Amino acid sequence: MSQGTHSRPGAGGPAAAGADTVAVNRGMRAFDDAESLWLFGYGSLLFKAGFPSLERRPATITGWSRRLWQGSHDHRGTLEAPGRVATLVQAPGAVCTGLAYRITPASLEALDVREKNGYLRFTEAVTFRDASRDRALVYIATERNAAFLGPAPIEAIARQVAAAAGPSGANRDYVLELARALRELGADDPHVFAVEAALRTGT
Ligand code: BEZ
Repeated sequence: MSQGTHSRPGAGGPAAAGADTVAVNRGMRAFDDAESLWLFGYGSLLFKAGFPSLERRPATITGWSRRLWQGSHDHRGTLEAPGRVATLVQAPGAVCTGLAYRITPASLEALDVREKNGYLRFTEAVTFRDASRDRALVYIATERNAAFLGPAPIEAIARQVAAAAGPSGANRDYVLELARALRELGADDPHVFAVEAALRTGT
């Protein structure tokens, strides 16, 4: 575990993330003194980074799966009709493909605010395509945050996504963009692709 970010959920992380995680994440000092750090993106960061980066590389993390299990009432939904966005859930042996961005610590402040609805900073090992490895920061919304929705049948997830929209746009567009970005990376993600297919067929 790196100092200053959370260890794996359930292994000494915070008791619970409230509705606003900005202050908690500001207290996480890992990487603060680094000139640059790797940030692993697996959700909206795959198609909408919104910050400058020094370098961007496809990468994987092991032991986590991407799931549309986090509620969004501030970006892709509302309090009355929350959308569903990606988080990572622990899955021993699973490999999750994403993009690693090399950024300066200054970029984290804006990300903490943008992703304030339940996402906490963790550190994980990332593997690049040349098989080299490094530590990376990753934002994860665990089941202990107030906006977590958890699992549901694929068709129910798709119906919820189809009905939701927020300040950042339609939840449907989020899922379609995510699926497109994953294909561009050559990533197989049966969960996201199943929701995408259900959205396209309207089931
Ligand atoms: C991501 O795309 O990796 C991401 C998702 C939620 C919060 C922050 C980052």
